[in-house]
Amino acid sequence: MLNRGELESLFGALTEETPAPGLRIFQPQRGYRYGVEVYALAGFALGIGAPLEVPRPKTAIELGSGSGVVSFLLAREGVAVRAWDRDPGWIELARLSLARSPAATGAVRLSVRDVRDVGRAGGADLVVCNPPWFDPAEGPVAPDPRKAEARSMLHGTVQDFVNTALTLASRVCVVTRAERLAKLSLPGAHVARRAWLPSGGIGLVELRPGEGSTREESLDLEAIYAALRAPWRGVRAR
Ligand SMILES: C[S@@+](CC[C@H](N)C(=O)[O-])C[C@H]1O[C@@H](n2cnc3c(N)ncnc32)[C@H](O)[C@@H]1O
Repeated sequence: MLNRGELESLFGALTEETPAPGLRIFQPQRGYRYGVEVYALAGFALGIGAPLEVPRPKTAIELGSGSGVVSFLLAREGVAVRAWDRDPGWIELARLSLARSPAATGAVRLSVRDVRDVGRAGGADLVVCNPPWFDPAEGPVAPDPRKAEARSMLHGTVQDFVNTALTLASRVCVVTRAERLAKLSLPGAHVARRAWLPSGGIGLVELRPGEGSTREESLDLEAIYAALRAPWRGVRAR
């Protein structure tokens, strides 16, 4: 495992966050940092505040896990998670965080995997993902390479993440921008639940196989923060 100094030579200065009691997350001081959407995604996937009961997953896979924060939040709630990212740097950073996170220890397995080629992988009850969602052809790309890869679709599209996710689980929860949701093609699957972050332009969907109707939900962020024991409120979305 790389130590903090070695990771700072990859990421620059790191900060340490406590996204919930018993969890420690290292992330770059400048560069890609998590926001409200990670709580929204974990809470939506667990059905916190949902109007009807949502199945409680025992196992999950996170595609594009970055710092690992979503996986760690799920693990703290008793879910065994496999966290995958194509960037070995993020996986090493998450390893250091995991070693400092007693509430997730033993429940998160970290691996370098590209969503466009996951190879042989068993399924899970749930897949969660917060994929890069900006089109690099349509706007500026962040100068920091890791931030660019986290925000812009440089190594695959939201559709690539969804296509792979649907091969791995019968419940897939995705957070992404409204225009990406509108363009998703879902052969053999449907949007079973949908909710919006308060800013309106960012949505959460749960995809399930087969045909069916969409339940519109309102996201109760306060209930999610309380249930996940978030120490703070109202962080802006990226
Ligand atoms: C928006 S960030 C999300 C990070 C973390 N899940 C969170 O919510 O804070 C997207 C992540 O996807 C990863 N990623 C981008 N393309 C990928 C690919 N083709 N396969 C796997 N991971 C990828 C990036 O390295 C980045 O960590």
